[in-house]
Amino acid sequence: MIRKFTMGAPFPTGAVTGTVPASGWDRFPYIYNTEDGKFVFTIPLEPDEIVYGLGEAPRGINKRGWTYRSWCSDDPFHTETKTALYAAHNFLLVKDRGIFIDFPGEIVWDIGYTHTGEAAVTVSGTDLDIYTIEGESPSSIVKEFRRLIGRSYIPPFWAMGCQQSRWSYPDADTVREVVRRYDEAGIPLDCVYLDIDYMERFKSFTVNRESFPDLEGLAAELKEKNIRLIPIIDAAIKKEDGYDVYEEGKEKGYFLKKEDGSDFEGGVWPGITCFPDFLRPEVREWFGKKYRFLTDMGIEGFWNDMNEPAIFYSEEGVRKALEEAAKLKDENLDLGKFFHLKNVFASLSNNPDDYAAMQHQVSGKLVSHAKLHNLYGASMTRAAGEFFEKEFGREKILLFSRASAIGSHRYGGIWFGDNMSWWSHILLCLKMLVNVNICGYLYCGADLGGFNDNATPDLVLRFLALGVFTPLMRNHSAMGTRPQECYSFENTEDFRDVVQVRYRLIPYLYETMRNAAENDTMMFRPLSFDYPDDPIARECETQLMLGDECMIAPVYEQNVSGRTVYLPEDMTFVRLSGERVLKEELPKGLHYVRVALNEVPLFLKKGKHIPLCRPAMRTELLDTEDTEYI
Ligand code: GLC
Repeated sequence: MIRKFTMGAPFPTGAVTGTVPASGWDRFPYIYNTEDGKFVFTIPLEPDEIVYGLGEAPRGINKRGWTYRSWCSDDPFHTETKTALYAAHNFLLVKDRGIFIDFPGEIVWDIGYTHTGEAAVTVSGTDLDIYTIEGESPSSIVKEFRRLIGRSYIPPFWAMGCQQSRWSYPDADTVREVVRRYDEAGIPLDCVYLDIDYMERFKSFTVNRESFPDLEGLAAELKEKNIRLIPIIDAAIKKEDGYDVYEEGKEKGYFLKKEDGSDFEGGVWPGITCFPDFLRPEVREWFGKKYRFLTDMGIEGFWNDMNEPAIFYSEEGVRKALEEAAKLKDENLDLGKFFHLKNVFASLSNNPDDYAAMQHQVSGKLVSHAKLHNLYGASMTRAAGEFFEKEFGREKILLFSRASAIGSHRYGGIWFGDNMSWWSHILLCLKMLVNVNICGYLYCGADLGGFNDNATPDLVLRFLALGVFTPLMRNHSAMGTRPQECYSFENTEDFRDVVQVRYRLIPYLYETMRNAAENDTMMFRPLSFDYPDDPIARECETQLMLGDECMIAPVYEQNVSGRTVYLPEDMTFVRLSGERVLKEELPKGLHYVRVALNEVPLFLKKGKHIPLCRPAMRTELLDTEDTEYI
């Protein structure tokens, strides 16, 4: 049962595809008020109530006991004390009700943080739609919500292959070498990524012809080998005379403005840039068509980045910071002044003053970006996704984004941004899978092995053993970190064993993801959805149900030979490694299971079987008919 409550004149976010007649506010199930231009409501929480939702966000599957913020944030330190990551997924599931706030600006979700017995939600405006969905079970509520927001994006089949990325492979020969070394090690691979250095001075829709003299030739040469090249596209456009994308955008008035009508300028990778006003349909159409520059070269996949949007600095911000520093020039810098100064410079990036100064054009009027912030990245994805669908049809082009808001799940997938080579980030990824599935994102995954900091081979192997199940299976790492391609470490055969398991599972995983998209269900569920009356299953945050057949439980600590796992019913414990399958029947209950570094653990429910095909070096070479059932 869905109800819609409308207040004021909501901005058309495009999140919802279905139509629901508006209900009177007397039927709104929570106490609310609208003080100081904000809409605030409170949800009572029973002592053992679990709260799900909020998609890509820090901390656990159960969101209780923390404050979260819907505000797409370029923040590379995903510590548990953070309140926001790159996305704004405004859906909460409490007790027998789902709540979706269709609103483009900031929302603060205090979920039992101030008062343990209630969730207080503060929406930073009073023009909004709220949908409440009542249902018999969490799964049925999710299904109804997902039907409301429309079918999730599904990538082409080859996007299920293993993908290798790094910031950056600097030239064509390095890309060739990555493929060669994977092939030599016998480790399957389908995609190699191009990070910002393939561009000419970080300008989107350009190619550095010194390091990639013949990108179209390289794409064709790799395609012969069934390998795809996946370039990055950054949202902001370098301000440079003679750069066609900039010149066109400027001439047509397609960039975000300042209040005085001039283009807003901010610093990102290329230096001073302008920001396309993706919220306008004509700008989306224009930007979408720009991808043709690369699709014409044979490119079939993209990752959209820096689209929160990330702004390292603005000239205005730097000017003010320098003025502040000048004031202190001859002063004795006591501790207070020193930290003030430090903070002035530290807060130059992604500064609220800049977001407030940027102006969108909505029906001929200027509207501050601060009010519409969370739609920015989602609208960039929409620009690309709409173009691809029109030009190539569905499921032809791989597309995923860093920033997102519910609605963009129809146009592309997401990756979880700049995580760390930390053991705790294996679990962070696992926990996020559930909540992003609830919010419609099925094609998703984390940077396997971790983006920032140095990885160790055991971390990469254990991370990959989780990544074997995530639809996006991509190893990516930051500039300056230790190389973490699967062939970079000793015992490459361990990596081969793990990645081969992925290829054996691809037909099953693709089918499971497709079913989830077609039936508005989740690919990954918390155990509590399936075993609501089992007190241990209800609280389990380190294992997930996968499809209707499996449970996954990755090893997530260093220097251990296994982990404790809880079986909510009798199951078959399967250890997969290369072509080897070891099975053991285990009764319901707690077990310590041993898992070697080259093994992928999987648990099969009683009476359930899944197909495994023979591994191959590419998805294209998989014989999906030749399967054995385990
Ligand atoms: C951002 C992205 C990261 C990428 C880097 C350079 O930090 O999140 O994946 O490697 O920019 O483009």
